[in-house]
Amino acid sequence: MLSYRHAYHAGNFADVLKHLTLINILNYLTEKDKGCCYFDTHAGGGDYNLRSEYAQKNREYETGIAKLWLREDLPEAIAAYVNVIKAFTTSKQLTRYPGSPLIAQHLLREQDRLELCELHSTELHALKQSMFKDKRVRVWHEDGMQYTLKALPPKERRGLILIDPSYELKTDYAQIIKNLLVMVKRFSTGTYALWYPVIERARINKMERALVASNIKNILLVELGIRSDSLFKGMTASGMIIINPPFTLATKMHTILPWLAQELGEQGHGSYRNEMLVPE
Ligand SMILES: C[S@@+](CC[C@H](N)C(=O)[O-])C[C@H]1O[C@@H](n2cnc3c(N)ncnc32)[C@H](O)[C@@H]1O
Repeated sequence: MLSYRHAYHAGNFADVLKHLTLINILNYLTEKDKGCCYFDTHAGGGDYNLRSEYAQKNREYETGIAKLWLREDLPEAIAAYVNVIKAFTTSKQLTRYPGSPLIAQHLLREQDRLELCELHSTELHALKQSMFKDKRVRVWHEDGMQYTLKALPPKERRGLILIDPSYELKTDYAQIIKNLLVMVKRFSTGTYALWYPVIERARINKMERALVASNIKNILLVELGIRSDSLFKGMTASGMIIINPPFTLATKMHTILPWLAQELGEQGHGSYRNEMLVPE
């Protein structure tokens, strides 16, 4: 299958929340000197040209990063995200958007390492190009969930596993949770960040119920919606489920999410969630 190309979606409102969360977790992990690892199970191509035919097709970046790019009144935590994205562009214009591997590569240090998985051969090629000659990085043409499962627990015993599937099959929702539960069993102190799209709310409710019913503790859910849930409007919202989040994250999200819902929401229909699904 593998028809998904992230270039159509780069920089949209879902990427804003995903990458803002990613930056906050990596900044927290790198506060300590000890090295950490970063696994990106579904890495994508890494670097997106917003002038490309793909990005221009639906101009999805206009629902996200474009609304923040030139603002000078951003709350501090959102400005920190925009500044990371700006570090990849020399001009003042918004022409390029970095994917999760590039953002992580930018924020991680000499003592850290990155393991990136991508199945689509075109995306894999682009990813290898953008990671060129970085000794901290390994790129794998493998199923990201299976590869990461085998690699856990990591030798550093501290790290982030970003799980950002394209959900091309309806069965992916249940399968991802099943694999995530096994990962947490193998590496229970790791931080996990799972992205999800709200296309059909019932699928997300089911994922949440499965996580709550597991024995896993310390699960935070953050979500940003730009229009009301509907079966006919495509992706209305998206969220991140974070296991073992930095203890500062929920508090930060209390200022970030209402602001984003207000500014990115369509015609006053922005919404957000910031909930501990399971406490520590
Ligand atoms: C949502 S995109 C990733 C975007 C990226 N994480 C970012 O934030 O910039 C999902 C990617 O997963 C790839 N993919 C799909 N199934 C996969 C699998 N089983 N293992 C690894 N990659 C997969 C797709 O080709 C696609 O490039």
